[in-house]
Formats: sequence, structure tokens, C-alpha cells
Amino acid sequence: MDTYRTVLYLHVLSLLVGIGAATVVGVCLFRLRAAQTLADALPWGMLASKAERAFPVAILGLFSTGAYLTSDAWTWSTPWIDVSIVALVIVALQGPLVAGLRAKALEHALIDNGPGPLGDRARGLARDPALWVATFANPGIVLGIVWNMLNKPSTAQAIAAVVVGYAVGAAGALPFTRKQAIEAHAVADPTA
Ligand code: HEM
Repeated sequence: MDTYRTVLYLHVLSLLVGIGAATVVGVCLFRLRAAQTLADALPWGMLASKAERAFPVAILGLFSTGAYLTSDAWTWSTPWIDVSIVALVIVALQGPLVAGLRAKALEHALIDNGPGPLGDRARGLARDPALWVATFANPGIVLGIVWNMLNKPSTAQAIAAVVVGYAVGAAGALPFTRKQAIEAHAVADPTA
């Protein structure tokens, strides 16, 4: 077994760390959206903020091991590598700057809400479109990068894989930014 294979293993391990954390955060988001009271929401909010800490580890792991693989056996002008670097930068920025900031706003709304049933502000922020789109578009982009890493396509195809990944992730998230039927019914008919 050579060093290249070992670093490739660490590269894939970093991917698994990222996918694992993204899965936990995604589940937490669904539970936060369904929460009726602060007691329902709190454990999921706390779990999500713990799981988020794995993202920088995964991103740094992917980049550093990818850099070794590139320097060892590829070139820095390889199209699928360059597109994937840009895509990884988008993931690294969109996570903290979009999802992270909206998650902070939700956290503050939960604290302001206090114990008991959740008010409109906290429930609205649990369905925040920017939070949902960023949370699901990022794994979509990552799956696009996996496609590029496995198939090593041309620049155009590599960009297409990332764009399709983003679009599928974002489109999958959007339905969950709408009010749940039961909630919309209660607003329309408060006696219900
Ligand atoms: C989210 C980001 C990334 C993901 C999900 C990812 C995923 C993967 C996967 C699954 C492989 C195994 C492919 C195979 O063995 O056929 C791989 C290989 C590789 N990756 Fe990445 N990678 C990412 C970022 C990067 C970056 C930023 C670089 C460059 C700086 C890079 C460079 C490479 C190289 C050179 C290989 C080896 C290809 C080979 O030997 O066949 N990767 N990547």
C-alpha cells in the first residue's frame, strides 16, 4: 500500500465525516420544523449546533488530502479538480454565512420565545427558505463533486454536475419551507 492510497482513504474518510454531519443536521432541521414547544425544539437545536462542528474538519480534510493527491499524481490545471475546488469553496462559505447565520437567528428566536408553545417567529424561522436551501444544496453540491471525482469529466460537464447537485438539493428543500397543512388550517380557522 503506497502513500497515495492512504491519503485517498483519508480523503474519502473526510467525505464520510461531512456526509455524517450533514445527515444529523438535516434530521435536526426536520425535528425543529415539527416542534410545537421549546421543549420539543431544544434537544434538536443543541444536537445540530454540535454536529455543525464537524464541517470545518471535513472541509479541511477534503482540501488538504485532495491537495496532496493533486500534487502527487495530477496537475492543478485539471478541469474537474479546479471546478471541485471552487465548488468546495462555495460549500465552505454557504454553510456558515447562510445556513449558520439563519440557524443563529432561529436559536435567538427560540431563546426569546421561552418555555411553552412556539410562537410565529420561531416557527417561521424553523421553515426559513435560506436555512433549508443552504442545508440541502450543500450536500447536493458535494454529491456533484463526488460525481466529478469518480468520472473526471471536462470543465463543462464538471460544472453541470455541481449545478445539478445544487438544484436538486435546493428543489428538495423548498417544499419544507411552506407551512404545514395542519398549521395553515389552524391559522385560517383559529377555532379548529
Ligand atoms: C467536497 C469535496 C470533495 C469530495 C466529495 C471528494 C470526493 C472524492 C472521492 C470520492 C474520490 C475517490 C475517487 C476515485 O478513487 O476514483 C476523490 C479522489 C480525488 N480527489 Fe477529491 N473530493 C473533494 C474535494 C477535492 C479537492 C478540493 C481536491 C483537490 C484539491 C480533490 C482531489 C482529488 C484527487 C486528485 C483524487 C484522486 C483521483 C484518483 O486518483 O482517481 N478532491 N475525491
